[in-house]
Amino acid sequence: MALKALLKKQLSKYPPVYRAVLRVYFLLQPVHLMELVAGTRAREREWARRTSKQRTEASGHQGDEWIMGYWDTRNQGHRPFMIDKISAHYPFSSVLEIGCNCGPNLYMLARKFPGVRLEGVDINEKAVQTGNELLKAEGLSNVKLWAGKADDLSQFSDGSFDITFSDAVLILVGRDKIKKVAREMLRVTRRALVLLERHCFEPQARDPQGLGVYRHGYWERDYTALFRQFVPEKSIVITRITKDIWPDPRWQETGAVIEVSLNAKGTTKMSMSF
Ligand SMILES: C[S@@+](CC[C@H](N)C(=O)[O-])C[C@H]1O[C@@H](n2cnc3c(N)ncnc32)[C@H](O)[C@@H]1O
Repeated sequence: MALKALLKKQLSKYPPVYRAVLRVYFLLQPVHLMELVAGTRAREREWARRTSKQRTEASGHQGDEWIMGYWDTRNQGHRPFMIDKISAHYPFSSVLEIGCNCGPNLYMLARKFPGVRLEGVDINEKAVQTGNELLKAEGLSNVKLWAGKADDLSQFSDGSFDITFSDAVLILVGRDKIKKVAREMLRVTRRALVLLERHCFEPQARDPQGLGVYRHGYWERDYTALFRQFVPEKSIVITRITKDIWPDPRWQETGAVIEVSLNAKGTTKMSMSF
């Protein structure tokens, strides 16, 4: 750990070298090498199978620490900002979160909007089960989490939610699946998508469709280029996150809330049959 910090300190004195080393480091991550072969399925498998490496007796959450890490931060960091962004769309009667883990965002929404139907899907069954137990223990009966994948929301019929949101999930979806995920999110949503993801603020010459560029271990993309294939461009609004809400420098540089509205006059969904 100390060696890593020392190396980082030394290398950061030479920004071009530091950037090149970082690039190689992330390109060589096992999950990315697997992604090169198997596409997004490699990352899905990693998240679906994720378990805690350590067990903390004291926490009482044996084997679930990585999940409890999400739960324990449910009113911290960027979350109040995210909840405000979603709340700005109120009134609504139903909300879906894609990649909800154990439901920290949905917990906050459930407390704020007790009359709203809230649902979440996550690829990790243990996170879903733990979340349902935690939410029940909190006496919240208007939230339900389901095991599921972002590119297959077939358990939900068309337009079953007013709002669909994601928080640091589409960064895990590669070029092979992002259009399918976008299409599914749009299909199940009546009014708006609210996505907190990493956005390419500069148009990417080598990625005109916004499918994604792999940077610093995650997928960043031009969300305007992606969603204008589905909805008119005027219904896509992208807001840079403020630096104070996320300590990670890469999030500070690229973090954005992408809002896609589906009910504004003249902004109905375009054909999705491509
Ligand atoms: C970085 S975490 C964010 C969790 C949550 N959105 C939050 O803000 O706390 C990403 C989550 O997405 C889930 N996930 C990853 N790929 C997914 C996929 N293809 N479909 C559904 N969930 C996925 C993971 O299991 C994990 O819980």
